[in-house]
Amino acid sequence: MDIAEIIRKMTTEQKIRLCTGKDNWQTQDDPALGIPSLRMSDGTNGVRFQKGGEEAAGDGNLYEAMIGSGFDSEQALANTYPATCFPSGAALACSWDPALAREVGAAVARECKGLGIGLLLGPGMNIRRHPLTARNFEYYSEDPVLAGDMAAGMVDGIQGEGVGATVKHFICNNSDTRRTALNLEVEPRALREIYLAGFERVVKKAKPAAVMGSYPAVNGRQCCEDEWLLTTVLRDEWGFQGMVLSDWGGVKNSESAAAAGLDLQMPMSNQYIEQVRRALQDGRITEAQLDAHCERILRAAFKYGRKGDAPQVDWEKHHLLARKAAAECGVLLKNGGALPLPKGRKLSVAVLGEAAVRPVFQGTGCAVVNVKQVDSPLEALKAALPLADIQYAPGYLADYSTTDALLREAARLAKQAEVAILVVASRLPLESDDYDRPNMELESGHRRLIESVCRVQSNTVVVVCNGDAVEMPWADQANAILDMWYAGEGAGQAMADLLTGDLNPCGKLAVTIPKRLADCPAYLDFPHEQDAGVYREGIFVGYRWYDARRIEPMFPFGHGLSYTRFRYDHIHAEAQGDGYAIRVTLTNVGRREGSEIVQLYVKPPEGPLFRPEKELKAFAKVSLKPGEQKTVAFALETRDFACFDDHLNAWRVMGGEYILQAGGSSRSLPLEARVWPRPTAAPVRQLTADSHYTDVFRDRRSAVVYFDFLVECGLLRADQVTPELEQELSKTFWGFSQHLDMLAGNRLTQKMLAELLDRMNRALAEG
Ligand code: BGC
Repeated sequence: MDIAEIIRKMTTEQKIRLCTGKDNWQTQDDPALGIPSLRMSDGTNGVRFQKGGEEAAGDGNLYEAMIGSGFDSEQALANTYPATCFPSGAALACSWDPALAREVGAAVARECKGLGIGLLLGPGMNIRRHPLTARNFEYYSEDPVLAGDMAAGMVDGIQGEGVGATVKHFICNNSDTRRTALNLEVEPRALREIYLAGFERVVKKAKPAAVMGSYPAVNGRQCCEDEWLLTTVLRDEWGFQGMVLSDWGGVKNSESAAAAGLDLQMPMSNQYIEQVRRALQDGRITEAQLDAHCERILRAAFKYGRKGDAPQVDWEKHHLLARKAAAECGVLLKNGGALPLPKGRKLSVAVLGEAAVRPVFQGTGCAVVNVKQVDSPLEALKAALPLADIQYAPGYLADYSTTDALLREAARLAKQAEVAILVVASRLPLESDDYDRPNMELESGHRRLIESVCRVQSNTVVVVCNGDAVEMPWADQANAILDMWYAGEGAGQAMADLLTGDLNPCGKLAVTIPKRLADCPAYLDFPHEQDAGVYREGIFVGYRWYDARRIEPMFPFGHGLSYTRFRYDHIHAEAQGDGYAIRVTLTNVGRREGSEIVQLYVKPPEGPLFRPEKELKAFAKVSLKPGEQKTVAFALETRDFACFDDHLNAWRVMGGEYILQAGGSSRSLPLEARVWPRPTAAPVRQLTADSHYTDVFRDRRSAVVYFDFLVECGLLRADQVTPELEQELSKTFWGFSQHLDMLAGNRLTQKMLAELLDRMNRALAEG
């Protein structure tokens, strides 16, 4: 396909129209020029494609089409094509398994192809800065390495099937309250190390077809209109070659967006057409800029646009994959011995909570999937425990409240049974697109049920289905806790498999579960004040915060139990290129086969910049038979030791001893190795009138110039320049120019100071 030739043939008006949607879900086609349209659709853990979305609505009035077509209403769901619902991002990340994400991504892409969708508007991968963010269930983690690698797996899987993936929302869609009106103040270092880092990882590792600009403004610039973000960082620094499209309605000024590097404004916008047409006429946007946007859109349209090749989807196979994935995501937070449930004998079990019958397995909003089939936890448990006597009581009402009668009935069954399995869930309509959760508690009906049951039955297992962390003040009273997150349509079977030990839990937390909301890093700044958000915690997001503030979480990042035990034997690190090759050996010392997520963190030395106590840099899932030992290999690169130095606007490795820590959770890292990566060459720092004496004497070159200058001006005699004087000066607390001024008895003029600074800076720059 000769795209350059097509662009040459296009009129300016055709080009402008190509750069905004043809309608809600497609790019502009042009049969005469042979341009196909690219059809796109949500979501992040399964396809959400609205019926009618395949018909081009033209550039007419879309308002009518939208009336009554929210995301979550029954009417809206009925109007959406059925699809497989896989674990949501927050669940999938607990697998710490990019290969699993790849399998899920490939399956979602196959379903896309069946619907003629060429570009999936997922995965979502924003950092989970605060647990109350409504859409966190779509996102992966509080850590950019885990988020970036999971997203890369997903993108590989989707694109391996010939469908384009869109990573979103670039960047800082970290709360959903009034997100289209927000300006967020985020320090450059936190942007680089936390909020951009995951996107950088996925762009470099998996080359996604598209990046979606997000709704808010960051540091005063609308994300979809920010040249620094969309061009300098994304394209020039990271080498992104794909298409940048806006979130739906995320552009406020189309001219700025087009000038900044946004290729495609979605959905169809007449404002875009008018504004860009005018900007071109007036020369504020060039035809060459427009051509570049067209080229990227055409490349995507030709590669991924399709005419409904409708391959047969093997729904049963996808359902089995959804089950398998759900089981890999369940995190066993606590086990006082109630699990796994004994299978080989008669057992009386009380299964409590309506979510055991009507499972809560997905979020809402534009990630919601119209499922074809859903596993029932209760039925799955009955099938997995054929010898058991299983009694069920709902315990709470559909609106998450409860009654004394329901509680009494649940407690009665719990008391009679040997074990109670209690399924609770975070409230569905509050995990959504446009607002945040009001608090981190479970709803009162669910809390009261836990209390009532734990009071009468010490062998209570609480299964939690949630979009993000919930407070667990009852954790001490429960014998065991299994966190399933929103695990998709296979959650019911996966629950049964994990509870009975048919499968061994291996999920690990992708976020910290705090004891209380007030412990969270962004607690004082969430969601934001009068549409102005300040990310005051800076780089101390997630476990970085809990570590630094010595706050004991309820369950730490990376935590997750198994029915077997792993022993971490040894770690070995050796230089490899500019980085290190690391080997970690561990043994399954329990009696069951199981998988462990080996986590490798780097603890930096103290230095001039504040650093987190440690940061995750690599991880691997390893499965071991009882008694088996394996060695896991990791490779760390220079960048894994670097931090972003705002003053230099560059990544920098500080000199010193770094400790590599390996283990099975961020708070259980039994193995350590020490390494000394080569530091980045000491930066040349400009001296200014505000510099300190230590800055002048840190480098011989500026020190020599300083004394020569004083002698030259007659402020000192050459024989007075002694090491003692230098030592004395380097110790003083004065700023050097103020001190010099005082010593010179008013003989230092501004001109002399400027001359001195210039000479010193030249000496430093010359090397
Ligand atoms: C959401 C995106 C989504 C888009 C299209 C927006 O409101 O933020 O995640 O892809 O709508 O549905």
